[in-house]
Amino acid sequence: MDVAENESIESKLMSSEQRSREWLENSPVCTKIIDIDFNLQYMSRAGIAGLKIEDVTAYYGKPYPFHFFPEWSKKSMIEGLEKVKKTGQVTTMEMSALDLEGKELWFYATLTPMKSEDDQIENIMVVSTDITKRKEAEKRLEVKNQEIAAQIGKYEKLNDELHQSNVELIRAKEEAEAERRQKLTSLIDGQEIERGRFAKELHDGLGQMLTAAVHNIRKIKHLGQLNDEQSQVLDETLSINQLIIEETRRISKNLMPAVLEDFGLVLALQNMVNSTSSSSSTIRFHGCKQVPRFSKETEVALYRIAQEALNNAIKYSNAADIYIDLKNEQDKVILSIVDNGKGLDVMEQMTNEATGLTNMKERAELVGADFTVESDGSSYTEVKVVLSQ
Ligand SMILES: Nc1ncnc2c1ncn2[C@@H]1O[C@H](COP(=O)(O)OP(=O)(O)OP(=O)(O)O)[C@@H](O)[C@H]1O
Ligand SMILES: [Mg+2]
Repeated sequence: MDVAENESIESKLMSSEQRSREWLENSPVCTKIIDIDFNLQYMSRAGIAGLKIEDVTAYYGKPYPFHFFPEWSKKSMIEGLEKVKKTGQVTTMEMSALDLEGKELWFYATLTPMKSEDDQIENIMVVSTDITKRKEAEKRLEVKNQEIAAQIGKYEKLNDELHQSNVELIRAKEEAEAERRQKLTSLIDGQEIERGRFAKELHDGLGQMLTAAVHNIRKIKHLGQLNDEQSQVLDETLSINQLIIEETRRISKNLMPAVLEDFGLVLALQNMVNSTSSSSSTIRFHGCKQVPRFSKETEVALYRIAQEALNNAIKYSNAADIYIDLKNEQDKVILSIVDNGKGLDVMEQMTNEATGLTNMKERAELVGADFTVESDGSSYTEVKVVLSQ
């Protein structure tokens, strides 16, 4: 190799080193060379500008990181440098630094060991990218997230409060409903007791007195000292008395049918139908023999519903046929009172708080039965009670 050739390679090498240095100086990435005792040997222009350092040479040979870096940042950088020195591994970290004007900057730093030919770590290269903007955006995002979380917290609290007052409202409503039912039950019980007492009075008191009166009339007749006219008046009085006795018995039975308690619904309803007459309607009853016995309250409720529905049909429907049916279907007992009369507007009547209809509904619901009234408003009405066993 001649001298000229040698010079040309040297100048190429020179210019290549110069180009590399220029790249380094013009790069937006800050490159630092730290010696093995962690003193700064070199810092590229990006870092000098970023930290607002005027004369970087004043820092050369001085400990890195600089004194104006925050404590935690210094600590983590020294730990990183020590790790690289000890293990020879490339290490990365995020760190913050205050520039000389006190503005906080953030960097992503990569610490790379620089080794000699004999594989000894001579220096550590610290390459830092400015991530201040990203960090600021993250901070803004964090603030926004906290605001959103606070809003969500408020809504959740509001939601909880709403839920709580809803629960309280439902409880208050349930308590009011339970109280209303309790009152209604006592009222109905009271009515039934009163009816029973009244039925007994009628039967045992008035009934017995009327029977005694009939007995006396018969006695007078047997004395035989009456003229024809007197005898006829007495006969008429006797038959009027008989009618009164029968009517009293009927009323007494309807008030509180003893047969209901003793023999159950089927017989009691049969008796009711037998003792009810209507000039315009044929009343029929069918009771299934397999209908089981229920509690007194339930049987009385079903009996009263049938009684009210039958009376309504007789009074208002103008039906040719009224049919009462009590049957057992699977695990249900169904009572229905159907007539083929003029029908009614169910919605209107039920919302009118018609006492007969609403009483029937209340009574059914109190014993846990479903109650419905169905009508086409022109040709039929069906009152139906379904009781699950
Ligand atoms: N089977 C029916 N056919 C036609 N209309 C009916 C029938 N049942 C009830 N209605 C109509 O519905 C209305 C309400 O009946 P509901 O039994 O509630 O009251 P009411 O019989 O008039 O009075 P209460 O029963 O309180 O003595 C009746 O006035 C009548 O107009
Ligand atoms: Mg009625």
